[in-house]
Order: sequence, then structure tokens, then C-alpha cells
Amino acid sequence: MAVDLKRFAEKGTCNESHSVPEDMNIVIVGHVDHGKSTIIGRLLADTDALPEGKLEQVRERCRRNSRPFEYAFLLDALKDEQDQGITIDAARCFFKSSKRRYIIIDAPGHIEFLKNMVTGAARAEAALLVIDATEGVQENSKRHGTLLSMLGISQISVLINKMDLVGYDQGVFDRVVEEYRTFLHSINVEASSFVPVSGMAGDNIAIRSSSMPWYSGAPLLEVLDDFMNPPLPIDKPLRMPVQGVYRFTNDGDQRRIVAGTVESGRLRVGDTIRFSPSGKQSQVKSIEAFNAPQPPTEAVTGWATGFTLSEQIYITRGEIASRVDEEPPAVASALRVNLFWLGKKPLQIGKVYHLKLGAAKVAARLAEVREVLDASNLTRDSKRERVDRHEVAECVLRLSAPVAFDTVDTNEHTSRFVIVDDYEIAGGGIILEPYQESVVWHQGLVTYEDRCRVLGHEGLVLWFTGLSGSGKSTISAAVERHLNAAGRATYRLDGDNIRHGLSSDLGFSGADRDENIRRIAEVAALFADAGLITLVSFISPTAAMRQFARERVGAARFVEIHVKADIETCAKRDPKGMYQRARRGEIKEFTGVSAPYEAPNSPDLVVETDARSVEVCVADVLELVRAREGA
Ligand code: ADX
Repeated sequence: MAVDLKRFAEKGTCNESHSVPEDMNIVIVGHVDHGKSTIIGRLLADTDALPEGKLEQVRERCRRNSRPFEYAFLLDALKDEQDQGITIDAARCFFKSSKRRYIIIDAPGHIEFLKNMVTGAARAEAALLVIDATEGVQENSKRHGTLLSMLGISQISVLINKMDLVGYDQGVFDRVVEEYRTFLHSINVEASSFVPVSGMAGDNIAIRSSSMPWYSGAPLLEVLDDFMNPPLPIDKPLRMPVQGVYRFTNDGDQRRIVAGTVESGRLRVGDTIRFSPSGKQSQVKSIEAFNAPQPPTEAVTGWATGFTLSEQIYITRGEIASRVDEEPPAVASALRVNLFWLGKKPLQIGKVYHLKLGAAKVAARLAEVREVLDASNLTRDSKRERVDRHEVAECVLRLSAPVAFDTVDTNEHTSRFVIVDDYEIAGGGIILEPYQESVVWHQGLVTYEDRCRVLGHEGLVLWFTGLSGSGKSTISAAVERHLNAAGRATYRLDGDNIRHGLSSDLGFSGADRDENIRRIAEVAALFADAGLITLVSFISPTAAMRQFARERVGAARFVEIHVKADIETCAKRDPKGMYQRARRGEIKEFTGVSAPYEAPNSPDLVVETDARSVEVCVADVLELVRAREGA
């Protein structure tokens, strides 16, 4: 990949992100219609943060449409403008007090907020939680509180809004405060303040309201100024998740640059760096900066930067760089976590998801639900097979490969993750601890390359997927014979055979099939690492598990072949009469009849066994193997 230094710049290179320590990110959350936008609009107007003429323009537009002016419209107008320019995940507004510059992150939904917090795109140091005085504490108000506390945002100010609509009544304010404070206590959170406000009328926003003399606290703007900027974790051990390894594009320049953002600590030219989970080490030769007059000799927390190494070692995106003279991150492939689930579909035991942690992305299976907490009523439940939407749970996740991370009590930045289900973020959380003793891959004395040298070729997995009776076994057996005759070291893993031994304890429920495929993916990964051409023929009905296998084996050594035949052809061939029995209901959950088969979206090859002869299909597969070997 060619280096694109401009991308570092967009993230805010080196010195720049560091030079304004008095910036503060504030997230604002609240139930719909509780008045977030009005409060932000008012803050922007009262601190003169609006573009010249914006207020008048929006007022004028309201007049023309005979609508009463609202501060919330200001925000819509600003967002419209932003949408045309830059794309941003959460709407951000900027304003200044006499103390510092604020960036208000309006989290339109939990998911965006979670994503930004975890990916670091917009991390918040403090939060404003809005509750409507006329409606009081809602379930969502509680969920927001739980989410904030889980994400480690400890500075929270609660704004009781729309005080004008309750006649600025202290009794109403006190009741809401009491109820919400009790709730926060139950999750061990202490709000920094409760402020009675009216975004609409401007009470206690920028200046103290005269309508609520009973309130002796500060107005919102002062509350914001009282929030503390937590110190940057410069004195913690170095953590720099590797975003990518790029090659310079200049002629003859052979250097590779390791790029990422320094999450904590510092690194200097000459430091010996360890990459986890691979455990590889090398020395920092140079630190690169975009447009810097002189290459820096040190990079510190907050810098989006890159460095070159004195030795060319092969490392990949997702590893974490640390210094050998400092505490390394943990490495594990099973994690005990606390997570917040937002997916429409529940998080289910046995199902495969993806876990994103820093720049790493691995397949993850929910292995155990240890305890579920309903985020709105805080009831606990410990005998569960799944986690429903809006629940917080302590779970065990098993990953397709080891990842590097820190636990939340050692370094929160490298302990946050999100879970992706069907390409969408569906949950997120924090790592409490590795679930097993830190596993370190024990490197033997013979490498993959050594093994390949003896065999004369590289390892490869040919993954045949298709309905029962589609011809997977027939084709793979014939392909294996050809490969063996051509001097290749091969082994065939066939569904029916494996179910006699390795998977003899499994049936055909969704969870059992996933486990079946997980085991085979592991075995195939080992065989490919042994240098064998491994032919796998399992129905493997779900895209997620085939993706799991691809990641476990490594995409470069994985070939997916869809053995395709329409179901009638399969049923007609059916040597064991299984389709008939399945159609009579005698076999439950039979693929294609009473259980789903997800055909691959973009397989490396499709062989249509109902339209072509076995010889043609086999020749197609062999051709693909040759192409891969030549690559
Ligand atoms: S998989 O879904 O877990 O990938 P696998 O390939 O191991 O399935 O096993 C499929 C074989 O098991 C079929 O060829 C068929 O002979 C047999 N079988 C028995 N019951 C079922 C069932 N309910 N669905 C599919 N195949 C079944």
C-alpha cells in the first residue's frame, strides 16, 4: 500500500492536536424531545458562536413560514450546511467560553456515540444529560446514564430542562433530581451537578436565571468551565495501535512506515518497539511527520503519526506497538467483558460477530453470558442464553485470533471495543480481563516457510460449500486425486467423516453447526500452516462462519468454492433418501428444507454441478489452484 501522508494530516497531525490542550469534548444525551437541540442552539447563540447572520437568517425563515422561532432550528440549519461539506459521524458544534473551546457532540443515537467513543473519532471528557421537567425520568434517561458510566465518562451534569413549562417550580426540580440521583447511585455514579434550565427561554444557560432564585448553583456555561480536562496519559506505557503499514511511493525509497495514533505514552527514535500479539520487535529508525520542517525525534500521546523501523519485520494492522522497557499490553483470545447491546437482533450464544478493538478486527463468538443487567430498571439475571437490546451484560467472548489490549483499569483507551453484527455496530463495551491466562503463541524452531520448503509448495484451504447432495464430496475427492498425482501434499476434511469423530458430539442446530465449522476452521488453519493443500467440504450454511474460517486461515490461503446445484437436483441425487425424510418432517432442521442455506455472495469460484460435468467442475477448481500458486 502506498503511503498517504495526507490521511495523517486529516486526523490532525502531530503537533496540531497537541497544541490546544484547553479544548474539551462534551457529549450531550437525552430522550428525544427532551430538548437537546434547543439547549445547544441557545448555547451557541448566547456565546456568539454562530456564523455571522445565521440567527437572523433562521428567524427570518421562521417569520416567512409563519412558524415561531426555535433555537433547535439553528442546529438543523448548521447541520444542513455541514452535511454538504464534510461528513461527520456525530454533529459537532464549537463554541468558546472565556476559559476554553468546547466541542459539543450531539449523539443522535447510541450507536454513533458508542462508535465515536470507541474508535476515538470523538471521545468525550464530560457529558450533559438532559431530562424534561414535564416528563421526568424516562427509561432512556436511565439507559443513557448507564451507557455513560460504562464508557468511563465520570463527569456528568444533569440538566432538568423546560423549567419554564412547570412555572419554574422548585418542587418539580427537586423530585426529578431525587429520582435520578437515586438511580445514578445504584450504578455508582455521582453527577457533578443538577441544573434547572430552559433552553427555550435561556434560563441558566449562559447566565444565571432570575426566574429561579431558589437555585444557588452555577448556570450551564460555568458548569462546563468547572469540568476538568483529564491529563493526557503521557506518563503511561506507550500504546500505539497500528492503523496500517505503508510503503513510500517515491522512487527507490524502500522504507515502510508504521502508522497510527499514539494512545498513551511516548516513543523516541532509537526505542526498541514490541508489536503485540505477534511479539515481533525492532528499533524506531525515524519518526515521520506531515509537512514538519524537521523530522521529530519523539512522538507523544495524541499524535497521529508514523515511524520507520531499522529492520523490515512483517507486522499487520491491528497490532499494538509498545516499548520493550515498559509493561506490554495483554494478549488473549478469550475475554471477560462488560458490554452494552444495541442491536435489533439479540446477541446470542454461539453466534459469530466481529469485534473491533483499536485497529484490530477479529471474529468473536459469544461463549457465555454471566450476568445481564437491564439498563433501565437495573434488574439482574444470570441464567441467559442471549442479551437483548438495551441490556448491559457481563459476557465471555472467544475470538478467532488473539488480540492485544489493556484491561479497563490499566488503560481505558485500549480496552474499549465495539461488536459488529451484519456489518453494523450493534454493541460495545470494555474489557475487564483476559478470560484465560494470557496465551502467547509458542513459536517452535521450524517455521511455516521451512515446512513449505520441504513440501515444495505453500499451504492452501479449498473450502467447498453447498447443499447436501450438491456434489462437494465428489468434486473435492476428484480434485484431491489430481493434486496428489501432481505431487502436492493434500488432505481432505469431509463433513460426513468429521461428524464420525471430531464432531460426533454435535447435531444440526444452528449453534452445533457453528461449532462444527469452528472446529473445522481451526483444523484447516493448522493444516494450511503445515503447508498442506486442505480440501474442506461441509455444507457450512452461514456466511458468518465461512467468514470466520477465512479469517482463521488467513485470506491469502483461503479459497471459497460454491458447489451449486438446485435443490431438486440435490434431492433427486440424494443417495441416503434424506430429502424425502426431511420433507416428511422426519429429519428436523434439514438444510434447504427446514433450515437455511446462505449462498456465498462473492465466492472465489462457483461450480454448477447441475449444469456441468464433474470433469469440467474439477478442471475449474484445478485452474483456480494453479492461478493461486502462480500468484
Ligand atoms: S454443516 O451444516 O454442519 O456444515 P455438515 O457438512 O457437517 O453440515 O454435515 C452435512 C451432512 O450431514 C449431510 O451431507 C447429511 O448427510 C447429514 N445430515 C444429517 N442431518 C442433517 C441436517 N439436518 N441438515 C443437513 N445435513 C444433515
